[in-house]
Amino acid sequence: MVVQSKGLSSKPANPRGLPKEAPSRSEHKAGTIRIGAVHKSFPQFDAPDITVLADINLEFKAGEFIALIGPSGCGKSTLLRLIAGLALPDKGSLNLDDDEIHGPGYERGLVFQDPTLFPWKTIYENIAFGLRARGVYQREKNTIPEFFKLVGLEGFEKSYPHHLSGGMAQRAALARALVNNPKVLLLDEPLGALDAFTRMNMQDEILKIWAHRGMTTVMVTHDVDEAIYMADRIVVMSSRPAKIEQVIQVGIGRPRQRGDPDFLDLRSKILQILHFAGTKQELPYYL
Ligand SMILES: Nc1ncnc2c1ncn2[C@@H]1O[C@H](COP(=O)(O)OP(=O)(O)O)[C@@H](O)[C@H]1O
Ligand SMILES: [Mg+2]
Repeated sequence: MVVQSKGLSSKPANPRGLPKEAPSRSEHKAGTIRIGAVHKSFPQFDAPDITVLADINLEFKAGEFIALIGPSGCGKSTLLRLIAGLALPDKGSLNLDDDEIHGPGYERGLVFQDPTLFPWKTIYENIAFGLRARGVYQREKNTIPEFFKLVGLEGFEKSYPHHLSGGMAQRAALARALVNNPKVLLLDEPLGALDAFTRMNMQDEILKIWAHRGMTTVMVTHDVDEAIYMADRIVVMSSRPAKIEQVIQVGIGRPRQRGDPDFLDLRSKILQILHFAGTKQELPYYL
């Protein structure tokens, strides 16, 4: 079901929140993801298989920013791993444009909650890793400084991961995913381990990168505010086996204001879908 948030226009005049003349030279580097009738279950020791995803059908348009939100353990990471090609569905299909996803590929970059940098490599070598693995390092190494600039890590080329703060390490992980110019960026709770202020800064950084480079972005988050602040559409998943509860179009122009009435309205609507809206309870009164 597709829900349009009430009272908001479906097409904001400036959906990416950028001035018209802002560069978007990579606008073509985006892909459409189609998820058709996907089922996924996992075998368990001494118990029947658990079904994690049941009949999931979704389409993420080229260049869209999608947030996946749902209760813990419902299958958000599993869905992201299927798109990444790190796991295969039991039934159904996943496509990037016209190609079926059969395994990992450089056109799909992935960032986890933990930056997972190689601790023994410098930040430069961590970011260059994707180019070396693809065998294009010599040809494309001149692009690496651009990625340091993009994520604001200029001057840290020779540092090692343990020299960086959590936010900086996550910027490096982002650059490592972006260096191959993916058509799709997959983010699995990438800001979950950061403090609130760093997190808000990083939300803006990621939006800036997305607006500039134009790749389709799918971000798992458990933070409703983060989903509304960042996404074009929010996919709300139900508890396991996960079904698509609702797909919500966030028709609020960017940059978004967290205190805006439309923002707060949508927030309470999503919390209600997730069954977290406050319920008035009669409490025993002992005084
Ligand atoms: N490789 C696996 N083997 C067995 N069970 C798994 C595996 N991956 C995930 N699961 C189970 O699938 C369910 C969904 O996991 P996950 O997709 O990580 O949830 P979420 O990201 O929404 O918190 C959980 O119950 C988890 O234990
Ligand atoms: Mg997860």
